[in-house]
Formats: sequence, C-alpha cells, structure tokens
Amino acid sequence: MRIIIENNYQEMSKKAALMLASQVTLKPESVLGLATGSTPLGMYQELIEMYKHDEIDFSEVSTFNLDEYYGLSPQNKASYHYYMHHNFFKEVNIAPENIHLPDGNAKDILKECQAYEKLIDHSGGIDLQVLGIGANGHIGFNEPASKLNVKTNLVELTEETIADNSRFFAKKEDVPRKAISVGMATILKTNRIILLASGKNKARAIKETVSDYVCTEIPSTLLQTHPQVTLIIDKGAASLL
Ligand code: F6R
Repeated sequence: MRIIIENNYQEMSKKAALMLASQVTLKPESVLGLATGSTPLGMYQELIEMYKHDEIDFSEVSTFNLDEYYGLSPQNKASYHYYMHHNFFKEVNIAPENIHLPDGNAKDILKECQAYEKLIDHSGGIDLQVLGIGANGHIGFNEPASKLNVKTNLVELTEETIADNSRFFAKKEDVPRKAISVGMATILKTNRIILLASGKNKARAIKETVSDYVCTEIPSTLLQTHPQVTLIIDKGAASLL
C-alpha cells in the first residue's frame, strides 16, 4: 500500500485528479470506478477544469459508481445519480450510455444487483477505482459487520453512517436506511485503487486501514490484500499515522 500525504484538501484533490487523468491518457477507453460523498468533490472540480482546458478527453471512458441509496429516484437531489450528474457528468464529455450507477428504485433489487455486477464484468473490469472511506472504515457502503457481501448487494446502513450522511438531507429521518453497494470482491478485483481521505475525523479509519491485520469490522483493512492501492490523504487524515 502506497501512502501519499498532501498538505490539505486541495492538494489531495489535485493529486487524485492527476492520477485519474494519467489513467485516461494512458488508456482512453478506461473503465473508472467512482465514488460520491464530500471527499471526491474537489477531484471532480479539478477534472472539470482539466477538461475545459483540453487536458483530458472522456469520450471513450466508461464509469461505474460504487453505490446508490435504496428507494431514491435519480431525480431526488440526495440521490447519487443526481450528485454525479450535477457535480461531474454534466460538465464533461462522458457518453451517457457509458455511465452506470445502480438503480436504487428498481422493482427487483436483487436482480438489479446481479445485473450491475454482470455489467461491470462485461466491461472488462475496472481499471481505476476511486474510493472514499467512512469514519467507521466502510468502503462503498460495505459497513462494519461479521460478514461482508462479496458481490453487489442491498445493504443496511449503520446508525453512524446515517448520522454522518444526514448532512445531505433535510432531516435525519429522510436518510434511507438501505443502499445498493458493490461488494468487497467487486472492489478488490479492480486493477488499481486510489483511496481519498481528508480531515481528522478520518484519521482513526486511516490508521486502521494501514494496520497489520484485516477484519470485516473495519472493511477498509481488506484493501491490504490488494496489490495496487494508493492512499491519497491530507495531513488531518494522516494525523494518527
Ligand atoms: C460514496 C461511498 C462512501 C463514501 C464515504 C465517505 O460513494 O461509497 O463510502 O466514500 O461514506 O464519505 P465522505 O466523503 O462524504 O466523507
């Protein structure tokens, strides 16, 4: 596991954008795994700027997002469909047919999960996966538990995650209690992973992530079994290392 410590959020975001841009330059038809939440917003901003300055071309890129809330329509402003469109897709030239997110509103959720997993496989696999991390060590929405899903599945969110994410909703009761998330094996079989973390509230999770054990109660520790993981973190997130 490689660890890059940047001075602040902005520098972390720039570094992550440069890595993603390098991937797309080396392989224009790259398949990218994308995350939502507060952390990657700066990276998306940097990528939009690079696109506007003709420094990156997404025309052949495909994307797969990690997760979506259960029961939220793509039009719902708190959905990850909305987030991705609003914060990234509408500003760059990724072909709409190459954009993929799980449908949290699907009639048959389990079928949707299986279909999503198949789509990722049929794409040839994810070249570069961007991850954030929960304060509890979740990656995607794979929450701490004695057993973790291998493949894309419907998951129950923990109280901690619901409280953390309530900032994106009018009130805490509006936060869905379930989500579709890609599974741990889905994440671990991607070719290369960059994990972004910023701020002291992520420091404990980062310390555990680089510890010398793996355990399902801290899902991010499983990243230690992957050969190509780079943590791009700021000084706050690195403060316990
Ligand atoms: C989002 C995701 C989550 C977030 C994590 C951190 O697609 O999969 O694992 O990366 O909850 O969220 P922020 O960045 O808001 O602290």
